[in-house]
Amino acid sequence: MARCVRCCCCLLVLLLIALGVTAVVVFLRHRNGGGPVVPGGIDRKYAEALAVALQFFQVQKSGKLVNNKIPWRGDSAEDDGQEAGLDLSKGMYDAGDHIKFGFPMAFTATMLSWSVLEYGGAMQAAKQRDSALDALRWIMDYLLNAHPSADVLYIQVGDPEADHKCWERPETMSEKRPLTKITAKSPGSDVAAETAAAMAAASLVYKPINGTYSSSLLDHAEQLFAFADRHRGAYTRTFPELSKYYNSTTYQDELLWASSWLYHATGNSSYLAYATGKNGEEFADLGNPRYFSWDDKRPGTQVLLSRASFFASQGSGLATDNGLESYKQTADAVMCILLPDSETAAFRTEGGLLYVAEWNSLQHPVASAFLAAVYSDYMLTSGKTELSCGGQSFAPADLRNFAQSQADYVLGDNPMKLSYLVGYGDSYPQRVHHRGASIPADVDTGCGGQEWLNTAEANPNVAMGALVGGPFKNDSFVDERQNVMQNEATTYNSALVVGLLSSLLTTTSVAQSLSS
Ligand SMILES: *[C@@H]1O[C@H](CO)[C@@H](O)[C@H](O)[C@H]1NC(C)=O
Ligand SMILES: *[C@@H]1O[C@H](CO)[C@@H](O)[C@H](O)[C@H]1NC(C)=O
Ligand SMILES: *[C@@H]1O[C@H](CO)[C@@H](O)[C@H](O)[C@H]1NC(C)=O
Ligand SMILES: *[C@@H]1O[C@H](CO)[C@@H](O)[C@H](O)[C@H]1NC(C)=O
Repeated sequence: MARCVRCCCCLLVLLLIALGVTAVVVFLRHRNGGGPVVPGGIDRKYAEALAVALQFFQVQKSGKLVNNKIPWRGDSAEDDGQEAGLDLSKGMYDAGDHIKFGFPMAFTATMLSWSVLEYGGAMQAAKQRDSALDALRWIMDYLLNAHPSADVLYIQVGDPEADHKCWERPETMSEKRPLTKITAKSPGSDVAAETAAAMAAASLVYKPINGTYSSSLLDHAEQLFAFADRHRGAYTRTFPELSKYYNSTTYQDELLWASSWLYHATGNSSYLAYATGKNGEEFADLGNPRYFSWDDKRPGTQVLLSRASFFASQGSGLATDNGLESYKQTADAVMCILLPDSETAAFRTEGGLLYVAEWNSLQHPVASAFLAAVYSDYMLTSGKTELSCGGQSFAPADLRNFAQSQADYVLGDNPMKLSYLVGYGDSYPQRVHHRGASIPADVDTGCGGQEWLNTAEANPNVAMGALVGGPFKNDSFVDERQNVMQNEATTYNSALVVGLLSSLLTTTSVAQSLSS
């Protein structure tokens, strides 16, 4: 008996030691962020929503499809790029139309990469990382081919005027698909720099996966950034007819955004100096909090550069870099306008949605919520417990609660009781403005399928993972196909919501280095 007690005691002690060691190991891996996260810690709701959101990239693929899982999609636009001797068949259609707009497509890739870099471990535990990587690769293959020499970048395939007059499936379209390119003489610093940002961010994602691919991405990123910086100009000033679509307000924010990504991807301090030096003073509008979007990369840059500040070792040059500190302070101010209880809180709807613009109203709250979640994880990981907003003080959990509230609103916790993520939940928009989803897969309409645009019937195909534009300021929403402002899906919207949902998969810390 005594022996047994001692023996049991021994076993118990051993067991406790083993448990303790496991806990410490799990904790350490957690803190380092690089290792896989405990699968039990994955939030099922957000994992399910993430699996839905990622499907939109399958829906939007151009070219010859591989392992296609969307029953109503097939091969399309296989000859894109041919007139220039390039293979531009891959990439993704922008929205409910069939134009490949380089500017938002590159932003989509940058955001997918950022999501994987911060939350790849959690995505993997939720079995969604491969799906994100598949989408990313489809875009990066296209962007690499679109950059055939240092100062040439193809920024668009298709004629938006002609395309928008047609209502048809991508599989049956027959309009000409002209190419648009920027060069030293016809510059586009915004689109070139966003593409550089996408390449630099993706090079970090692929570093542990495929070194060859990663270095190729990085080479292209450095060339593109140099091109964007040397030949300055906004692409919608070079091609005024494109300002109707994605009119970049300025190219300055993209230059800073790209240099910040290049700094993370290369560790070369000249990229940091670019953002914190004279260009930062002229372009960054430091001190003024703004909303992150496809057009305005400043808040994203502020958060991304804060990363370097949060994780700088004591006494290092980074820890005392005034330029970097100004970015961090502006990022703090961005967080302060997002927090509903802060004195500087921005407007939100009665239903609790941060509301910035009526057109595609969900893009700003979702993008901001992603930044808030990322920032709260930077705070937690670096042991900062307090965010100060004027006289008030907030905790990382407050930022996370804000992020979660916006995600929950999107997923159906809103006055309409509607999920704005198509395919998620019991109730979601049925008449999404999307050509392919609105026409039965066996119908060849040619350009003239407008009856499918104009019918009040629900779409025959579900545009899985589309994040539609979203509600009015009074939280109401009209599910009509012609309601482009509220009911169109965009590829970059889905990238933003993928980021947000990934950040909420688990209460997590992030890796201290993006290149580990
Ligand atoms: C790595 O990427 C290159 C393309 O740059 C490709 O040819 C090669 O097959 C990839 N290797 C692996 C292991 O996926
Ligand atoms: C595009 O942006 C520029 C710069 O902000 C502005 O001057 C111009 O009016 C805009 N064009 C359109 C069509 O919105
Ligand atoms: C850092 O980048 C700059 C600008 O591209 C380049 O001139 C310089 O050679 C790079 N330095 C190193 C150490 O790679
Ligand atoms: C909500 O706002 C929209 C757009 O301003 C308006 O058309 C609609 O009538 C409003 N709905 C309600 C219930 O007030």
